[in-house]
Amino acid sequence: MPLTREQTRRHLTAMDLVDADRPLTRTEREFVLDHYQPSASTSQALDGAYFTPRSLAHQLAMHDIGCDRPGERIIDLAAGIGRLAYETLIDPDRELKSMPLGELVCVEKNPEYVRVGKRVLPEATWICDDVLAVPDLNLGGPFDVAISNPPFGAIARSRDALSYRARQFEYHVIATAARLARRGVFIVPRRSVHEENPAERTADCVRFTRETGIELERWWGDADDWRDQWGPVTPRVTVTAADFRHVRRAAVPA
Ligand SMILES: C[S@@+](CC[C@H](N)C(=O)[O-])C[C@H]1O[C@@H](n2cnc3c(N)ncnc32)[C@H](O)[C@@H]1O
Repeated sequence: MPLTREQTRRHLTAMDLVDADRPLTRTEREFVLDHYQPSASTSQALDGAYFTPRSLAHQLAMHDIGCDRPGERIIDLAAGIGRLAYETLIDPDRELKSMPLGELVCVEKNPEYVRVGKRVLPEATWICDDVLAVPDLNLGGPFDVAISNPPFGAIARSRDALSYRARQFEYHVIATAARLARRGVFIVPRRSVHEENPAERTADCVRFTRETGIELERWWGDADDWRDQWGPVTPRVTVTAADFRHVRRAAVPA
């Protein structure tokens, strides 16, 4: 869908801020996060680059990610320009938290998004790389939490994660997260997580759990309230969380 004239004007203003030769204020950072248009990049559909709506990211960060202890280490896998990671640093009054995180690492393969991300989230360490290659980067001991709104579905990938072989990219990101963190919180398509009733579980989800040992609990109901805020798509998503400690013990050298 082509951008409207107003969306284009705001995107260009956002890019002027990205290119400015000075640090950005918090308001300016949020302007860039709100108005940078990934559809200005031709790879949006191929890479599944649909950024999390602000209020969904905020709800998630406030209630589910729970990184409130000083010194915690967070990694955001497939971070885009940093929307989800940014919200972990914002308090209920939308001020930047004074609590110092131990480390916030954002991994994103698109260099343009990384360039924008470094301007809106300079507190993070930005890594421009394939998310599936991160376990090879030796980023130190386990992170406390991995977060991700990954690309969904049959996105091209460089390798498989853990012992999982099937095509859904979101499962490869979650299995990669299991090698990096003690627990994970993910935005995923509704069909990718376990229904409470085992009879309603999808074959893909059952296979993922069988092959990786990772149970994906549906943490939220549906996030349908945000369906019309994703730009050109209207995905049916939910939030899932996983405790990786038993998987790490079984599959990952300490
Ligand atoms: C659904 S978007 C979400 C972005 C961000 N996490 C957010 O919540 O706004 C997925 C992101 O994954 C990136 N991506 C796609 N394939 C990737 C890969 N193999 N490695 C790292 N990032 C990738 C895309 O460029 C895009 O920015």
